[in-house]
Amino acid sequence: MTSQAPWADLLEVAIAAARAAGQHAARHVDRRDEIDERRPHDLKLRLDVEAQEAAESAIRDRYPEHGILGEEGASAAADDQPEWIIDPIDGTVNFAYGFPCWCSSVAVRVGGAVGAGAVYVPPFDECYTATVDGPALCNGVPIAPSDTGTLADAMIYTSFGGRRLGTLDRELAGAFADRCRKVRIVGSAAINVCHVAAGRGDAYVEQGIYLWDIAAAGLIAERSGARTRSIPGEGDHRQGFVCTNRHLETAVATFLEEHDILPGP
Ligand code: IPD
Ligand code: CA
Repeated sequence: MTSQAPWADLLEVAIAAARAAGQHAARHVDRRDEIDERRPHDLKLRLDVEAQEAAESAIRDRYPEHGILGEEGASAAADDQPEWIIDPIDGTVNFAYGFPCWCSSVAVRVGGAVGAGAVYVPPFDECYTATVDGPALCNGVPIAPSDTGTLADAMIYTSFGGRRLGTLDRELAGAFADRCRKVRIVGSAAINVCHVAAGRGDAYVEQGIYLWDIAAAGLIAERSGARTRSIPGEGDHRQGFVCTNRHLETAVATFLEEHDILPGP
């Protein structure tokens, strides 16, 4: 499949898969204490795995030959085949603790470029969607980022991932808190980025997230008019990620350069 990819058809399946994953987890929320693995700053739930199976089954029904790259497992396909990028539960720790801020994210890429994505947020029954050739929507209604133009007026999302904190993580959150109106740590990268796309916050910055956390939300943000930027370098599908409402693009980049997170000009 090439640049002629039928993005509208692929989006339909992305939505079905994200809904299948999210609805499976929501239906079984009474099993949120079934923990497969405890890590110092993270949890793996049985429902993470089951929700990915639900998403994969929605994809395989339609496209059995496509590849899968999911947080809970991958299966390669031929190079010219689309690849589906799945985070069955983004915000697993929130889900496990009963905090209603989690979602299911499904994106599809062809030749390395994401062309369609859906983020379904079961606690609010919100579904954010976009294709590379269409608008960003929430439940079918167009969304747009805020017009906040200064860090002093901004509400910034960040988070601490599932690994040991580095000096930069601590410094970043504190420095943003000094400079901005508010810093928010709510524990779902995909929701954070969709919120920036929808004008429910002004920027999001996190180090060390995974591709599946932001593949769909990043496209949704770009199509809403927000700006995104990856900070490469951590390997293993891991990266830093920045999303701004676009008016804050330079201010956030300068701020990150000052804190040695982005290289200077
Ligand atoms: C995590 C969440 C969290 C972020 C972590 C992610 P998960 O995803 O998005 O907000 O801080 O970096 O890994 O593990 O719940 O899918
Ligand atoms: Ca996850």
